[in-house]
Amino acid sequence: MKFFVDTADVDAIRELNDLGFVDGVTTNPSLIAKSGRDILEVTKEICEMVEGPVSAEVVATDYAQMIEEGRKLAEIAPNIAVKVPLTLDGLRACKTLSGEGKMVNVTLCFSANQALLAAKAGATFISPFIGRLDDINLDGLELIADIRQIYDNYGFETQILAASIRSANHMSDCAKIGADVATAPPAVIKAMANHVLTDKGLAAFLADAEKAGIKIV
Ligand code: E4P
Repeated sequence: MKFFVDTADVDAIRELNDLGFVDGVTTNPSLIAKSGRDILEVTKEICEMVEGPVSAEVVATDYAQMIEEGRKLAEIAPNIAVKVPLTLDGLRACKTLSGEGKMVNVTLCFSANQALLAAKAGATFISPFIGRLDDINLDGLELIADIRQIYDNYGFETQILAASIRSANHMSDCAKIGADVATAPPAVIKAMANHVLTDKGLAAFLADAEKAGIKIV
């Protein structure tokens, strides 16, 4: 499973990139607003830092303007994935932009039917939001499993990009189901390394090493 980092914070991306955990980046208008930076400028900086796909989202809602914005975003760098919302205009824009050879990430997916339409529209990525479904007592992981089954039934090449991830457990659950990609905030990706028995075991090893005077260099 590929790891995308869900942030527009360049320092956080750099830190995870240095750790080798960044296969791509996802942003959205809320994350760009949180960064306090100009969308074109911060997205360019991220694209220079990361080799994999960097999703940048349009803010228009009608087809013609989405195309105009999508083309402008795609000019930033070859690794841009234009992010469009899962609306009829967004799906039409997905088809056009994909036809031009651009990567397209169809976002705000909350049902298997929506994911089926995105695949038919030639999306590179479909972003089902699991955390937001869990927030309203629906089962986000069940949606990932349903999409996996549908895409496998017909050999759709659209990649399932599990989004709105809230915990480290979501990451392993998505990997078990077979999501192609999971995008998570930096803190969630780092939290995957945590285990209380690792901390306890390391403390005991270090205490024994000190007692025995073990020195390596
Ligand atoms: C994905 O592309 C979205 O930017 C993101 O995962 C949304 O997450 P949230 O529901 O925690 O805002």
